[in-house]
Order: sequence, then structure tokens, then C-alpha cells
Amino acid sequence: MTDVLLVTCSALPDGEPSHEVLDAALVDRQINARWVCWDDPDVDWSSGLVAVRSTWDYEARVEEFLAWARRVPRLMNGAAVFAWNTDKAYLVELADAGLAVVPTIVVGRAEDLPDAIGSFDEAVVKPQVGAGGRGVSIGSATGPGPWVVQPLVDSVRTEGESSVFVLGGEPLSMVRKLPAGDEIRVQEQYGGTTVAIVPTSEATGLARRTVEVAEQILGTRLDYARVDLMRRADGVLALSELEVTEPGLYLSELPANGHAFADLVVRLLAEG
Ligand SMILES: Nc1ncnc2c1ncn2[C@@H]1O[C@H](COP(=O)(O)OP(=O)(O)O)[C@@H](O)[C@H]1O
Ligand SMILES: [Mg+2]
Repeated sequence: MTDVLLVTCSALPDGEPSHEVLDAALVDRQINARWVCWDDPDVDWSSGLVAVRSTWDYEARVEEFLAWARRVPRLMNGAAVFAWNTDKAYLVELADAGLAVVPTIVVGRAEDLPDAIGSFDEAVVKPQVGAGGRGVSIGSATGPGPWVVQPLVDSVRTEGESSVFVLGGEPLSMVRKLPAGDEIRVQEQYGGTTVAIVPTSEATGLARRTVEVAEQILGTRLDYARVDLMRRADGVLALSELEVTEPGLYLSELPANGHAFADLVVRLLAEG
């Protein structure tokens, strides 16, 4: 019997980094959990609640990933949320709704790239559908479009990027991530470091508002979210990414996230 399927990718068959924390938290709550790959044809997706966790290989196969999500009956956050969130154009929508966001221009055609890049002193170009920092570059595109173009937020090198985890609508924990050397990408695979910090009210306030605005746009509750924040040159703390598809839980730095996620699973299973 399976209560919850935890969904990963073939590169991480046992689950996200430090998955043991989440596994133990689920066992403690008498929940039967199993890690499965989203593209495994032999999984019965109707056998329980389905929680996407570490499907970090879909960006080149996003249509296939979304088609899979639409076939899953009890998917946390759900396929419509994933379709919206895997396209970084959602940042423009959130800015238009009044949230502080890192300025973002969506560029579909290569001939429009120079103008967009030229509109900032220093620009960051990245794929419109991307993950794990792949294809993020300074000043020019490294891969095929469509792209999004943003100003390079300098404070990423000093203050870093922070992430607030919001589970069941409540901000509950925070990490601060810093890049290494000349990198701007804070992810571990580029040498970045992550530390747990006490959540600040400035960050949790923005995280809560971000989730509320996204819920209004989407017309649905968000079971889980990671809200990534950077301080803009104008001093305003701003949204750099809202992750409501496959946010890593940073279980080594924040083991409490494993317990909170397990509690959320218990609540959703009780709701049926
Ligand atoms: N405009 C920017 N200014 C400074 N750093 C950025 C900017 N955009 C991205 N980065 C850096 O690159 C990383 C990856 O970019 P991100 O937008 O989060 O894409 P992904 O979806 O691949 O995680 C960020 O975590 C941050 O460290
Ligand atoms: Mg990111």
C-alpha cells in the first residue's frame, strides 16, 4: 500500500539530497512513502497522493513533463500550477499584480535580444523555461530562446539570494545562499553555499504576499512554495523566483522542512 509517491528523476533515484530526513519523518507519522521517477512507465499514479520533489531533468522535455502531470489524479499543487510556473513569464504577471519583482523582459526572437540586454547596465539572460541555473549567463545568451532578460542584481554577490519556504500558506523557514568566486549562481553545483537563517519579517512578509497573489492568479491553494528573494539596486527586497513545481527542501540545512512537509502530507491525506 502506498500513501504518498515522492517523485524524482533518474539521476536521483533515491530522492532529493538528504531525503533520509523526509523519509524518517514520514515513517514517524506511519505514512507509506516510495520514491519514483516521473518518467517511469510502470508506476500506478492513482495509488496515492503524489508529491513532486526532485524532477530536476525536465527542462528540455517540459511538454512531456506537463502531460505526465495532467495524468496524475492527486498531485500536490497540480498540473495547472506547474504549467504556469515552469514558464518564467509568470514573473511579469506577478510584477503587474503589484509585487516587488526583479525586472524581467520576456524575449521570443533573437533579433529582439540586443535591445532587451541594452536596457540594463549589466544584464542576465536565461532560458524562459529553465532550472538548476543552466543557461544563466551575463551579457549574452548561451543557448536557444525564448529567453528572459533581467538586470544583474549585484547584491547576489554580497547579501546573496534567500529562500523562504511556505507550506500550507505559512512561511516557516529560510536559507541564505551565496555564490562562489565570480559566479552569480548560488547553487551548490556552482560552488555556492547555503546556510539556514532565522526568517526575517521582511522576507516572510513578501513570501506570504507572493503566495497569496499567485493563489489569486491561479484560483487555487498552493500546498507548497519556495520564494526566492534578492535585494535590488534600489534597496527593495524583490522576488527572483517563485518555485511551486519542484523546490528542493534543503533538508540538510533545514531538517525541520522534512517534518513540516510530512505534516502537510498527513493533512492532505486526511482531507482525502
Ligand atoms: N538577475 C539576476 N541577478 C543576479 N543573479 C541572478 C539573476 N538571475 C539569476 N541569478 C543567479 O542565477 C541563479 C539561477 O537563476 P534562476 O533565475 O533561479 O533560474 P533557475 O530556474 O535555473 O534556478 C539564481 O539562483 C542566482 O544565483
Ligand atoms: Mg532558481
